Amino acid sequence: MNIYRLLKLNWMIKNPRIKFFGLFLLHKTNQRYIAVNFDPVMACNLRCKMCYFTDENYTRKIKGVFPKEDLAVLANTMFGRALKLQIGCGTEPTLYKHLDQIIVLGKEHKVPYISVTTNANLLTQDKVNDWVEKGLDEFTISLHGVHKEAYEEFMGKASYEKFHEALGYIHQARLINPKLNLRINFTFNKDNFMELDDFFDVYGKYQPTIVQIRPMKSMGDTAYQDTDISSLSEVYDPVLKKIKAYAQSHQIMLLATSSYQNLVTSNHVESTVYNYTYCYIRPGYTWRDGFEFKTDNYNQFAQKINLPKELLLNAVAPKKTLDKLINKHSLNYNIFD
Ligand SMILES: C[S@@+](CC[C@H](N)C(=O)[O-])C[C@H]1O[C@@H](n2cnc3c(N)ncnc32)[C@H](O)[C@@H]1O
Ligand code: SF4
Repeated sequence: MNIYRLLKLNWMIKNPRIKFFGLFLLHKTNQRYIAVNFDPVMACNLRCKMCYFTDENYTRKIKGVFPKEDLAVLANTMFGRALKLQIGCGTEPTLYKHLDQIIVLGKEHKVPYISVTTNANLLTQDKVNDWVEKGLDEFTISLHGVHKEAYEEFMGKASYEKFHEALGYIHQARLINPKLNLRINFTFNKDNFMELDDFFDVYGKYQPTIVQIRPMKSMGDTAYQDTDISSLSEVYDPVLKKIKAYAQSHQIMLLATSSYQNLVTSNHVESTVYNYTYCYIRPGYTWRDGFEFKTDNYNQFAQKINLPKELLLNAVAPKKTLDKLINKHSLNYNIFD
């Protein structure tokens, strides 16, 4: 399944009422419609300057490892509704010893698309091959600098050489498994943005399937906090134009905002259904407050909180009500391919 086609469809359907009616039908007919985002371990090996892992208040508070023995129960409860399983969302999943088991369970429950989001520094050739053999569909690899200096400056404790070694392992695995996708996520700020001018000179050789370029968001008391990108107003469009041209000529899907103007004025309208499709799981928390994956059942709980009725009411709700559902924290991009 090409999950990005669905994402594009969501983006193309501008009318939120149609989206809600679609979700209502999917729910009632027992179809898959949620994206399960699972952080199995609340830790990271790196200290990226823009990320909350450089905020001591955050690192002091977060802890926990998802018990291996609970994985199968979690999968039974949640994976049947999942269109996509993303392992690694807000922390670093490669620190979890049983990551392979999550992939196995995802496959057993026929989740159509399984992705691991990682800084890649701990990947080995054996792990890459093992996860791909077990059914992984995509590696999403994050970076905050194209060249060594900016990469290591913005990603504390990371090694540029290890990062490229890991990309090499993925590249080799893709030669044997052409269906395996490589997605590269670049988070920019005013000080690393110009690195993108050389993006494909350095990363083109890994032939990514998808590239996402997104502005940093404020994540608390982090080592780097400057979210003001007004100094990019003149350079944003030409850099994006170059990237878009390369992506189009190499069949790479680009997830990025088309112009500086759109970047600063976007209304995030395509995110209206986000709260109903995005499902977050970490040690100690699953999906919604009050939901207990060991004892509750997705459909019964949905009934208990009147989810189907809520979806249907949203499908006929006035614009004012729907506007309140827009998720300002969702990523803001157009989809080019
Ligand atoms: C928090 S990380 C967790 C997954 C994994 N550790 C990784 O880095 O890929 C998820 C994504 O957030 C991005 N990120 C980090 N700091 C960010 C910020 N301030 N604003 C937006 N995205 C950020 C990372 O580059 C990564 O793509
Ligand atoms: S962005 Fe990812 S790799 Fe970097 S510190 Fe945050 S969780 Fe870790």
